[in-house]
Amino acid sequence: MTAEAGVAGTRVLVTAASQGIGYGAARAFVRSGARVVVNSSHEGRLAAAVGRLSEAGDVHGVVADLRQAADLDRLLAESQQWLGGLDTLVYVTGSPSPGTFLEQSYEDWDRAARLLVVSPAYLARKAAEAMLASGSRGRMVFLTSIAIREPIPTIATSSVCRIAVAGLVRTLARELGPKGIRVNGILPGYVATDRVAEVVDDAARRNGTTPAEERAALEREIPLGRLGTPEEIAEAVLFLASDRSSYVTGAMLPVDGGRLRSVG
Ligand SMILES: NC(=O)c1ccc[n+]([C@@H]2O[C@H](COP(=O)([O-])OP(=O)(O)OC[C@H]3O[C@@H](n4cnc5c(N)ncnc54)[C@H](OP(=O)(O)O)[C@@H]3O)[C@@H](O)[C@H]2O)c1
Repeated sequence: MTAEAGVAGTRVLVTAASQGIGYGAARAFVRSGARVVVNSSHEGRLAAAVGRLSEAGDVHGVVADLRQAADLDRLLAESQQWLGGLDTLVYVTGSPSPGTFLEQSYEDWDRAARLLVVSPAYLARKAAEAMLASGSRGRMVFLTSIAIREPIPTIATSSVCRIAVAGLVRTLARELGPKGIRVNGILPGYVATDRVAEVVDDAARRNGTTPAEERAALEREIPLGRLGTPEEIAEAVLFLASDRSSYVTGAMLPVDGGRLRSVG
């Protein structure tokens, strides 16, 4: 990706970005000339990611647990200070543990709700305030999952909680559109990261198969015949964060190789 992506010079915060989809998005912004704050909850992994990203451009890391309100406040304050304002929030988050509905405890629901509902809503509020304060025509992009359209039985908490993000995107798009802020979401399908490895391993344990067999079964269900890559998700993120999508707000874009079967 290059300056043609249309995000050069913009000030960007990408959460949960020490690896996987978040890291892929952060790398695309850095390579396209944006200034980027990346976050994760683990100091060592984040430092390693910042080291790699810094080879391509201007990056700063903030260790913060997305489940903790005080961490979210600190993340926004430090990002705003380092960036000198905020133009774009890309919200990625950690994953709740795999499991069926009957396997979930109160603590599992509490953790998932913090990670997938409370945290994005609260961070969006803080980000909107930062964007309005710096006079930015802000953009927000929320990464969710195709599970919000077609629940996946073995990731029950994710299938239930992530639907809230679709409501959040529409709510924010209506309230913030008149103030010049666009808000959209992306529904990744199956993307080749550690998370998919975890889901595949879990399925193999349940079904008495091997991870390779489970992965092949997943791929058979995808019309394009393979898992996606973080780079392919990043292309969609950059589109929604740039003026190339200037008339798009409140949208939820599947990037899933055609995996979703439902219409609308
Ligand atoms: N891969 C897929 O196919 C797929 C599809 C749909 C949706 N998703 C969802 O998209 C998100 C990213 O997935 P991924 O595949 O990129 O997963 P991943 O490779 O496992 O990366 C997860 C990222 O989240 C960070 N993280 C975890 N808990 C955190 C916390 N409490 N606070 C801050 N950061 C935290 C991790 O960093 P540290 O460990 O350094 O904190 C890591 O950078 C997940 O929510 C996943 O469920 C993934």
